[in-house]
Order: sequence, then C-alpha cells, then structure tokens
Amino acid sequence: PVAIAQGIVEKLNAAEKPRLVNSISAVNGFVNFELDRQAFSAIVLKQIENMQGEYGKQNLGNGETVVIDCSAPNVAKYMSVGHLRSTVIGESLARIYKSAGYTVIRDNHLGDWGTQFGMLGRAIELWGDEIDREMPNAEPVRKLYQLYVKIHEEVEREKEGLPEGELTPLEKEGREWFRRLEEEKDPQAQALLTQTTEQSLQEFKRIYDLLGSEYEYYLGESFYVPMLPNVVDTFMRRGLAHKDDQERITVNLPAEQGLNPLVILKSDGASLYSTRDLATLAARLGWFHPEKILYVVGGDQSYYLQQMFSAFNELARGETPDIEHVSFGMISLPEGEKMSTRRGKVIFLEDVISEAISRARQRILGVESGASEAEVAQAYARVRSEKDLDADQVEEVARQVGVGAVIYMDLGQSRSRNIEFDINQALSLDANSAPYIQYSHTRAMSILRKAKEAGIVVETDAQPVFSDASEEDLMKHLAMFPETIARALKENEPSTLSLYMYRTADVFNKFYAVQPVLSEEDTAKQHTRLRVTAAAAQVIRNGLHLLGIEAPVVM
Ligand code: ARG
Repeated sequence: PVAIAQGIVEKLNAAEKPRLVNSISAVNGFVNFELDRQAFSAIVLKQIENMQGEYGKQNLGNGETVVIDCSAPNVAKYMSVGHLRSTVIGESLARIYKSAGYTVIRDNHLGDWGTQFGMLGRAIELWGDEIDREMPNAEPVRKLYQLYVKIHEEVEREKEGLPEGELTPLEKEGREWFRRLEEEKDPQAQALLTQTTEQSLQEFKRIYDLLGSEYEYYLGESFYVPMLPNVVDTFMRRGLAHKDDQERITVNLPAEQGLNPLVILKSDGASLYSTRDLATLAARLGWFHPEKILYVVGGDQSYYLQQMFSAFNELARGETPDIEHVSFGMISLPEGEKMSTRRGKVIFLEDVISEAISRARQRILGVESGASEAEVAQAYARVRSEKDLDADQVEEVARQVGVGAVIYMDLGQSRSRNIEFDINQALSLDANSAPYIQYSHTRAMSILRKAKEAGIVVETDAQPVFSDASEEDLMKHLAMFPETIARALKENEPSTLSLYMYRTADVFNKFYAVQPVLSEEDTAKQHTRLRVTAAAAQVIRNGLHLLGIEAPVVM
C-alpha cells in the first residue's frame, strides 16, 4: 500500500492540480488531499453573498407535490400543546420542502365531525344559555369547552349504578343528535356545527398568526362526509370488507402485516375517523397527484395510521404515492409549573405562548414579574435610551423571542422523543434555545451596524483574505447548510437543521470571541471579517426561517 499510494501521488502531482486542492501527499499508504482553505472559503463566501436569502435553496423536488397533513386540531375543543407539535413540525417541513423545490400543500384536516359532536350539540341545547349567562365575556371556544366538560361530568354521574358498557341517557341523546345531523342532515344541527366550527377557526387562526403557520387548505373531516358511502361501497364491492359479528363493516388487512382489521362503519351506520381518513386519502390522490403525503401526527396514532394506510393500499392496489407517518412524542409541562393548573388540568396552547412572550418581555426590560408600574415605566425608558427600542419594538422583539422559544423547544430535539416543556430553558440565552441563536444574530447585526456607522464600506468584489482558522472553520460550517437541509428533508426531521443552527451560533461566537473586527487595522482583514460576519448572519436568518422562527435585529 505504501508504494501504491506513493505511485498514485506522483502521477497526480505530475498532472494539473485540481481546483481547491492545496497539496496531495502519501502518508503510510493513504493518499491525503489537503483542502485549499483560502480558496474554498472564498467560494463559499461569494456564494452566500450572491444568493443571500436564497442560499440553501436547491432543487431536489423538481416541482413534485408533497401534501403535509398537519396541525388538525379538533373543533369545539381547545388547541392543546400536542397540536403545537404537529403545527410547528408541519410548518417547518413545509418550508424545508419548498426550499428544496417541491410544491407543498399544507392541508389542515380539522376534526369537525364525529359522534363527539352529538354530545356537544346536546350540551349546547341543554345548557348553552346558562353558560352564556355564567361566562358573558369568555371567548366562545372557552364556553364550548365548558359545555364539553360539563356534559362529560354529567355522563360520569349517570354511569354510577348503570351496568358496565351501557349507554347513559345523555349518551343516547348525544347519539341521536349526531344521527339527526349525519342521516337527516337536520338544518338546525348543521347550523350549530357550522357556527361552532367558525368560532373555533377564529381561535385557531389567532394562534397560527402568532406562530406564523399557514395552510393551503382547511379541509376538515366533515368535508368528506358526502363521499363516505362511496368509499364503504367500493370496499364492499371489491370484496375487501365484510360485516363482522357485531354488524360493523371492517376491512381485512393482509395477514403478513399482522394488523387487526380496520372498522370503517359502525353497526348503526355512523362513519368513523377511519372512514373519513380513507376518503381524504382518495381525494388527495385525485386532486393533487402527490409524490408524497406526510401525516404529522402523534405517535399514539401510529397503529391506527398503519391500519388506515394498509386499508387504503388494498383499495388502491399498490398504486399509491409514498405515504409516511411523521410521528412525534408527547409533550408535557414539568410538575408544579403554574401554567398547567391555571385552567384545571388542560394546557391551553395560547396560554403557553403568551406566557413565553410575557417572560421574554420581562427579560428585555430587565424587570421581575411582580414589578410595579413605576419600575416598568422606568425600564421602558432605559431600553429606549440604551437600545433605541420604543414600546412597539419591545413588543415585536418579545413576540419574536417568545414564539421562537416555544417553536425551538419543540424542534430542537428529535421529534420522536417525549419532551418536557421547560419555559425557563426555552428562553435561556445560554442553552440550546432559539434566543441563544437569535442573540448571535443580533451580535452579528450589531457589528455590521457599527461598521456602517463608522463609515466602513466593504468591497464584496475584492478577494477575501482569511487570516485565522476560526474564520475558515466558520466558512466550512456555513458551506454545509444546503446539505443539512437535504438531510433534514430526507429524514423529515427539522431537528437536524436545529442542531446545525445551534452549531452555527456556536462557531460564529468562537470567531467573534477571538477576532477583532471593528478594531482591526489591516483593511483587507477587517473587510473579510465583516463579510464573514454578514454571511453568518445570513445563514442564521435563512435557517431560522426554515424552522419558522424570526431573527430579530436587536434583542
Ligand atoms: N384531529 C386529530 C386529533 O386531534 C388529528 C388528525 C390527524 N390527521 C389525520 N388525517 N388523521 O387527534
């Protein structure tokens, strides 16, 4: 090997030196290529400067369509922190796929149909007015939630004394209400459901606005109701489904998959979540001709989704796109965190976000949560004079940081893990957190601003002069941005990108700690460092954007 390596190196060195290679040498039977770090760094720098906001974009998708089923909260219920995961993972994947040349369709499969609405409908009939009187100023959705809780408490009470499994009078009334809706298309019931859905959507959209998530479609389960008979018929006609001993229609799944049969129609003829999901899949194929469909849904639905995909596969006879369950773990608040108890056991997503924003605001102002009005007013004055931020700007930054912290808490670790939502860690400036990364960006922006104020004009056409390993390390790291995006896409794993962003902040901070920029006297070196700083800031912005996080200029 030693001799062979030597021979190869001699031949290579006799030919013209390849671009970006400094030297080629033989060491103990290996052939070593040494990167020309100057030239390489210069190319990366130029690429970032040329592409700016586009840096990281690539064409992996050729315009092919990917449908992302995400968020999908249930109407008339609060949007839980579990839906937060689906919302932020879905949004980040959408941005990643788009930047990689796919046509992305985010479809919000709202839970707006099903027997549980029978219970709600009945509860509105029984106690709607009473709740209106009790909670005159409450958000409609909070009232609906009260009704939901109330009827389930009543049902529990009714259950005492009844044999196991027997329906209580209220449950029977709930079923009857839903039957009126589904079978008789009762206009009054329909109107109530429509109104409820609109109220819920208003609340959901407020949260989406805060988080910066958007959807191409909001096609809830109810949208597919007219297609359900056809779906069930087709399964029956093709001999893929049968009536089981409890009079339910079930689909047999291939034995080798070891899955239980999937029920698609109840004995009373009511449809199920599965029936509506199967119709949805058929419709999505017909409308969008997708290359890929991603279901961003919690791991607790994994078995069901396998059954549903398998049943659909029977129907489509293998002619299906790539359908994937992008699963994620549970999310919980640490014991004793006051947010979890404010409204009973339920954690309202909006409360978590507002709490994060308000704590971010306190950090910016440097006040404690119990501060007096005078102290707060003083803090605003201080921030105005020291950081040149007025009250509106403080609010804007608090929102960017608070929301960013919530999103990153989720996307910062691999999605299959269960996460404990620790708001202090989420907002920490020296942990793997959004504020840490955002802060690096503001440091970079501050250097660039000061350089500008000092009248320094940087020539980006000039050949850069890298004078330290920390600069070249940073450029080498920035060069890996596009391939990191590609990896995150391949694994449907935004945390791959989060981890890269965390390192970007780290590598930038190392460079920043050792390299004087504004005080550097050698103009060529100084200009190069300013360009490196701008490039790092650009990559941090681009990367945070793909995670759905904003990059403030000051903090
Ligand atoms: N609404 C459901 C829930 O909150 C999630 C829906 C997921 N998407 C789907 N196509 N099944 O559990």
